[in-house]
Amino acid sequence: MAGGMGDRMTKRIDDEIIQRINEDTSIVDIISNYVQLRRSGVNYVGLCPFHNEKTPSFTVSESKKIFHCFGCGESGSVITFIMKKENLDFREAVVFLGEKLGIKIEEGLIEDHIIIDERLKTYEINKKAARYFYDNLKGNVSAQKYLANRKLSGKVINQFGLGFAMDSWDHLYNYLSKDYSDEDLLRAGLIGKNKNSNGYFDKLRNRIVFPIIDIKSRVIGFGGRVLDDRHPKYLNSPDTNVFNKGNHLYGINLLNKYSDRKRILLVEGYMDVISLFSMGINYSVASLGTALTERQAKLIKRYGDEVFICYDSDEAGIKATLRAIDIMTKENMNPRIITLPKGMDPDDFIKEFGLAQFEKLFINSKNAMEFKVQTIKVNYNLDNLEDKISFTKEVAYLIRSLKSPIEQDGYMEQISNDTGISKEAIEQEVKGIKISSFNKDYRNKAIKSHMDPIHSKLPSGGIKAEIDIIKLMIKDKDYFEYISKHLHVDKITSPECKYIYSLLNLLYKDVEIIDKEVLLYQILEIPNLDRNLIDNIFLNNLEYQPTNINQVIDDLVNTVINSNLKNQERDLLIKIEELDKKDRNVEEDEVLKKLLWDLIVLKKELNPNN
Ligand code: GTP
Ligand code: MN
Repeated sequence: MAGGMGDRMTKRIDDEIIQRINEDTSIVDIISNYVQLRRSGVNYVGLCPFHNEKTPSFTVSESKKIFHCFGCGESGSVITFIMKKENLDFREAVVFLGEKLGIKIEEGLIEDHIIIDERLKTYEINKKAARYFYDNLKGNVSAQKYLANRKLSGKVINQFGLGFAMDSWDHLYNYLSKDYSDEDLLRAGLIGKNKNSNGYFDKLRNRIVFPIIDIKSRVIGFGGRVLDDRHPKYLNSPDTNVFNKGNHLYGINLLNKYSDRKRILLVEGYMDVISLFSMGINYSVASLGTALTERQAKLIKRYGDEVFICYDSDEAGIKATLRAIDIMTKENMNPRIITLPKGMDPDDFIKEFGLAQFEKLFINSKNAMEFKVQTIKVNYNLDNLEDKISFTKEVAYLIRSLKSPIEQDGYMEQISNDTGISKEAIEQEVKGIKISSFNKDYRNKAIKSHMDPIHSKLPSGGIKAEIDIIKLMIKDKDYFEYISKHLHVDKITSPECKYIYSLLNLLYKDVEIIDKEVLLYQILEIPNLDRNLIDNIFLNNLEYQPTNINQVIDDLVNTVINSNLKNQERDLLIKIEELDKKDRNVEEDEVLKKLLWDLIVLKKELNPNN
């Protein structure tokens, strides 16, 4: 496929990379650089660049990620488009598009035979293990009892390939090690290695096993549930050479097979998907307890026209829902949210009330805005005037963020009805919230809490690491949280980065995803900041792949902390030198002593081992 010669023949581009390029690139954006496109329904049309025409028959679909010309019949993906227009081979086109996404293709190059063989082996091991778990079920009364208690029929058990991991440390290991090397087994993630005895052990023991199966019907990982209420309730496969949690959704294989793709329903757990399926809902998938990723949102978008979210009705579920909404909105999706009675999950609900009642939930589902308003409302008592005012103000912020004036009007009307506050007043409130006042608020808080940006010292060494840290923090709230645990804002030297850090700290209290534009707007209001540095942060993409991200972050944090210490050391040395040369009075003598002491302390911090 890659064409070319020499060592190119032995290496090819990882399928995952190609898939990512296809999915993460906006085909409309890319083609717009070559063809003037206009919207037509869900698609975009323009004059075909591959043949001469006067009326547009060249169509681009963002959701399907393809282009097609009804005039000349040319069609393909964004990669084929670039191959044709830029006259590149497949591999070059992938590199071309990868650069735009900040993906380094070199890292995605794989040694054909070795890596592919290893992958195939993991699939094989997983399949064998799944069959083994399944067979175990027959002989195990307690596991059967458990499944029966949860109302799972033999048919559903078969459809999902459920199984049982024996109550033994090495039953699976002994079974698989007849055919596979320890190395192969470790790679597949089901077996662990004892640190002390050098022996091997089964990771899943005495648990119900849920194989995780991809669209191509391959077993890519497993979840295992205890039979009682011991902890941890679930153990899930680690990421392996065939499994990356953030890329998959539990249940997608059956959805792919049975659903008509009109609706797709996102739930939290294995049992939700299984229970819904057994009751006749064949279009649900689970994000398996981890926060929804962009990639999963994209998958969801592809597998259902109408997207519904139905997470558990508890605090964690609501938080996860708000996050999922933000992620989906970013992908231009309009999810509707189903709320269950308090304390219930979809599995509980459908078992207790049945399919017909569950279907009704779809009719009563709320859009993102309605759900957010409902979430805010819980915090206020609308019979109390003060609460009513605070509630309305808070909602005004949400309304302001809506793009369509018609939508804005609709919600203002609704909130007016809810609160009795006149629509005109609400309208004024919404109009009154200009970005600048919103900014000022945050800015003042940021300045108060941390620093005076104008009088801070100018940046020096370690600045690159700081910039990367900031980029990571903007990119993902999880990164932000991890970094803020390990790197205090005072350790940052550049005023620009320090300032953005403080703002992020405030913004992330309210949002899951940072709107870069809003952030930038706020930064640009500050005088005397280094525009080049800010441009670097906002315009250049990160060069990292989020694979070994924790290592990357740890390294960056260390670099920043070290360079900060070195700066301090340098400053101290300058001061010491000055004082040293001088004819000192008693007071200055004391100062010098103190500075020398500080220097010793600092040196210890820089070299903890000396
Ligand atoms: P049941 O209690 O069997 O009904 O589980 P559930 O499928 O309703 O799962 P729940 O809503 O409790 O959790 C949602 C998902 O989060 C599960 O399907 C698991 O994937 C994951 N999860 C839950 N508990 C744990 C845990 O202790 N450890 C890990 N790693 N994942 C968990
Ligand atoms: Mn449950």
